[in-house]
Amino acid sequence: MAKLNGRIILIYNLSYMYTQKVLDHFKNPHNQGVIEDADAVGQEGNPVCGDVMKIYLKIENNIIKDVKFETLGCAAAVAVSSDLTDMVKGKTLEEALKVTKDDIVNDLGGLPPVKLHCSMLGVDALHKAIENYKNKK
Ligand code: FES
Repeated sequence: MAKLNGRIILIYNLSYMYTQKVLDHFKNPHNQGVIEDADAVGQEGNPVCGDVMKIYLKIENNIIKDVKFETLGCAAAVAVSSDLTDMVKGKTLEEALKVTKDDIVNDLGGLPPVKLHCSMLGVDALHKAIENYKNKK
């Protein structure tokens, strides 16, 4: 605990909670941003914490050629988004739909139990983007 401008602030050391891989993705997220001419966009929010993830896909011949995300959320949500986008880039839509939240959590070396729900955001936003793309065709 410390004081800033007379207010008490809490300082968390995230390394106690997260694996090094989660911290690396959180500090230097991969594929963060917007695809202006995206072929599909999906958005998912967590009504409990208010966090939101938006995913943009560029698709050619059924393959995810590019993927970007915008996440307003916790460190776990950002790390999950970053890892998910790495995982699905270059995959067919069918292969991407098979990626589960457990795949992401395992690839990140785990998440604290209270943060496991954060892993749903990425997968759900991706599914919505692919559904959106299929509905347009
Ligand atoms: Fe909301 Fe992590 S606390 S997604």
